[in-house]
This record gives sequence, C-alpha cells and structure tokens, in this order.
Amino acid sequence: MSEPIHFYYRGTVHEVNAASPTQTVLQHLREDLHCTGTKEGCAEGDCGACTVVVGSLVDGRVELKTVNSCIQFTPTLDGKALFTVEDLQQPDGALHPVQQAMVECHGSQCGFCTPGFVMSLWGMYLKNDAQPCARKEVDDALSGNLCRCTGYRPIIEAARRMTELPKVEFDREAVVQQLQALKRDKLATYSVGGRHFHAPRTLDELVELRASRPQALVLAGSTDVGLWVTKQMRELNDIIYLGHVDALKQMTEDGGMLEIGAGVSLNDAYEAVCRHYPEQLSEMWQRFASLPIRNAGTLGGNVANGSPIGDSMPWMIALGSEVVLRGAGGRRVLAMEAFYLDYQKKDMQPGEFVEAVRVPLPRAGVQFRTYKLAKRFDQDISAVCAAFAFTLDGGTVKEARIAFGGMAATPRRAPLAEAALNGKAWDEANLAAAMAALARDYQPLSDMRASSEYRMKTAQNLLRRYWFETRVDAPLAASAVNAFAATPCRA
Ligand SMILES: Cc1cc2nc3c(=O)[nH]c(=O)nc-3n(C[C@H](O)[C@H](O)[C@H](O)COP(=O)(O)OP(=O)(O)OC[C@H]3O[C@@H](n4cnc5c(N)ncnc54)[C@H](O)[C@@H]3O)c2cc1C
Ligand code: FES
Ligand code: FES
Repeated sequence: MSEPIHFYYRGTVHEVNAASPTQTVLQHLREDLHCTGTKEGCAEGDCGACTVVVGSLVDGRVELKTVNSCIQFTPTLDGKALFTVEDLQQPDGALHPVQQAMVECHGSQCGFCTPGFVMSLWGMYLKNDAQPCARKEVDDALSGNLCRCTGYRPIIEAARRMTELPKVEFDREAVVQQLQALKRDKLATYSVGGRHFHAPRTLDELVELRASRPQALVLAGSTDVGLWVTKQMRELNDIIYLGHVDALKQMTEDGGMLEIGAGVSLNDAYEAVCRHYPEQLSEMWQRFASLPIRNAGTLGGNVANGSPIGDSMPWMIALGSEVVLRGAGGRRVLAMEAFYLDYQKKDMQPGEFVEAVRVPLPRAGVQFRTYKLAKRFDQDISAVCAAFAFTLDGGTVKEARIAFGGMAATPRRAPLAEAALNGKAWDEANLAAAMAALARDYQPLSDMRASSEYRMKTAQNLLRRYWFETRVDAPLAASAVNAFAATPCRA
C-alpha cells in the first residue's frame, strides 16, 4: 500500500500522493504548489538558484540546512519542513533583514539568482543567530550560488548588513512540534504509477528490504543520483532511501578509527575528520562542492559511487581507511582500495550496501597531506586529486602510501612509486625516482578537465610539493607552497 508524503510548508502540512517518486522538490514547488520564487538555473546542483532550506528533526531539535531543490526528490521531504524565499516576508509585509540588506547593498540586478542567495544568507543568519561572522564563513555559505550580473561584492556586503538590522526571530519550537507529529517509526513506501520509493527507518528494515530488492537503487543524499534523472533522463523505478535510517547517522571512535555512518552528511563527516586532521583536510572540506551539496550529500555516497575523480577516496585510501559493507549475511570490512575493482565496478554483492566508512586517527610518524587541483577554488570537480601518507623514521621512508584520483579508471594507489620509496632515504634522488615511477603507475586520460600530459605532470609535481613540506632538511610550511594562501579572504 502506498503511504502519502507529508511535509510542513508555509504554516501547514502538505500531502503528496500523485507526484512521481523522482519529481524534484523544485518541480513540486513551481508546478504543483505554484510557488515560483525558487528558480531553476542548471538543474544539476551547480548554480544555487534553486536553494531552499530543509528542516529535519534531530534529537528533538530542528536542524535547518540549505540544499539544492533541483536534485532532491519530493518524497525525501516526508517528515521534514521546507522553507523557500516565500517564507521570508514578515506578517506585516516587511522584508526580512536578509532581503532588506540585499536591497540596501544593491545585491541584485536581473534577480534570477537572488532567491537562491537570499536562502543561503538566511541559512547563515539562522545558524549564527543573526550575529556577524567571519568572511570565510560568508564565502563558504555562498560557495554554491552563482551570480552572472551583479557580482559578489555587494552580496558579501549584504551578509554583513543583514546582521545590523533589527533581528527577526525564527520559531523553532513550532516547527519541532509539527515535525514530531509527522515522525514515522517504521518503513513507509510511496508508490505512484508502478514506481516505488521505500523509506526504511531502522537498519533491520533496510537490510531486509535491500536483500529482497537487490536491483533497487540505494539513494542517500541524491547529489549524484539527482543528476541521473534531471540530466540523463533516467527512469528509476525502485528506490531505497537511506535518509531516515538514524542508525546510519552515527559517528564513533574506536580502536584508533573514526567510524562514520553512511547517512552522515559530507559536511558533518568533514567537520569530524577535520577535528583530527585540521591542517591536512580543512582546505578539502571547504573546496568539496558547495555547502548545500555537502549538506545533502554523504561521505558514504561519495565512496559508494566511487567516481575516479571523487575527492574523498584518495585521502581515505592513503590513510588506510576501510569500507564497512552490510548485507543479510552480516558485516564485511574491506580495505578501501580493495573496494574499487574497475571503472564503476565495486566489490559489493547484490543485497549489500555501504553501512559505514572507517578512517584511521592520526598516528605518530605518519605525514599526511592531500591536494585538490581544479580550475576554481569552490564548487569544482578535480582534474587531479593526490594524497600521500608516509610513515617516516627520521629521514627514511618506512611505508609510502600514495593514492590519486583523476589518474585512472578508479581511485588508485601507485605501487611502483611506493616501491621506489619504501625503505629508502626521503631525499631528492629517491623523490625523482618515485616521480618517474608515477608515469608507469598511471596512464591518465585526456578529457574536458585536463589533458593526459597535464595530469601526469601535475601528479608528479604534487609529489614534489609533498616532499617540500615533509623533507627532513628545512621543510616548508604548507602556506609557503599553497597558491591560495596568498588570497587573504581564503585564510
Ligand atoms: C554541484 C556538484 C558538485 C560536486 N562536487 C564534488 C566535489 O567537489 N568532489 C566530489 O568528490 N564529488 C562532488 N560531487 C559529487 C557528489 O556530491 C558526491 O559524490 C556525493 O558524496 C554523493 O553522495 P550522495 O549521498 O549524494 O549519493 P547519492 O547521489 O545518493 O548516491 C550516489 C551513488 O552511490 C550509491 N550509494 C549511496 N549511498 C550508498 C550506500 N550507503 N550503500 C550503497 N550504495 C550507495 C547510490 O546508489 C548511487 O549509485 C558534486 C556533485 C554536484 C551535483
Ligand atoms: S537549478 Fe542550479 S543548482 Fe539547482
Ligand atoms: S542578479 Fe542576475 S544573475 Fe545575479
């Protein structure tokens, strides 16, 4: 039996029972609810014109996060609260401080991007309780919004100005009460026209469902899958949604490993790993997609998708991370590099899913760095992504672990370069040998992001950069070899 979708929007609970399970939230807003403030620019999560705020109940509180409505499916809203630019106007018709600040700072010209910027700014306003915040946080909050006519300075100015205007309170308690009334404790399946969207609530329900429907598509944050529908026009008939399984949202530390459940958002996962590796991973955290994509997407989805140009796998493989798979037969733990068999081929049996990933905590003697090369600082896919984690004993390499993205059909280690270094002195001659060996480890492709020659050259040079930072004699500070360190607002 099909269970309708219920979500809270504009002071009332909405019921959906006829929309396709892969209708996007943006389509639902514009075509069914006729709320056309939210715009469509790209329909692939890149421009931010469709940014909305979604509220979820977490431990009795409402968690409010910006997401791209163009790649989220309507059934994912079940039990949640949706806020759009239509919610911001005050009961007396006055503009919200976020909107007023955009007006005063001339933050809008054609206005197409403006609702998206306003929602990103509102997300930041709520998070910081209307208090001013650092420039880096403003940049981060706006990293997923593109404006092609106003330019960013007036909008950044509005981010400061909105905190100077009289504060507008947001009644979280009222939303909590609404969401508590919508909470479900067990599996609900929404079906329309022979298509199904299953939303289990417990791990046991998920295991059973997955075992009985091995062909169904597992959906986590939808930041890859959403595009299969909006760009590739794929029809997804049977979906198993992980977003309501609280057991997958846990993070624990045990036996020197940080275990991150497959339902943890990219942003929360990176925040947790950055507590252990602040110097090494903070830039990657900031440069991974944009805040709305990191709010929706999961680290488990990044690993399960296993794109050859994904950003998390190189550093996770270099550190020696593990993938925890779960199926009807129980848990299976694999070294992450063993999970990737070939292009889009993983060691995942029918009926299995990724339950968690495990990241080793910092260990004495291990020098770890990761570098992302892309054309833009924010919101860009890597051409090459490198990670190095060497166990050094004085000036000797006890164990070299090197992993790259963008260099092969899967994220992959570099066995020949590693062999050129293991047990050897960490000096310039051995560095040169390892750089040469990289050319035998990989035969990268040329594509729209980079040529094969560029990829190889930069991969070799990134190994040299790592050597500059970790050599025994006069190592350079990361800021001395990082082009972005020279940009004050990125600091
Ligand atoms: C605008 C934009 C920018 C992006 N920028 C970056 C970037 O900078 N770096 C980067 O690496 N990626 C980037 N991505 C890609 C994407 O955000 C990541 O791959 C993300 O981690 C996917 O996670 P998800 O939860 O959204 O997965 P989904 O889209 O829900 O799923 C992705 C795939 O993984 C499978 N899957 C998901 N979870 C599980 C599970 N637990 N078990 C088994 N299978 C599972 C799904 O079936 C599907 O095949 C970007 C995407 C967009 C749209
Ligand atoms: S329409 Fe461009 S991000 Fe959604
Ligand atoms: S105001 Fe025109 S795109 Fe931003």
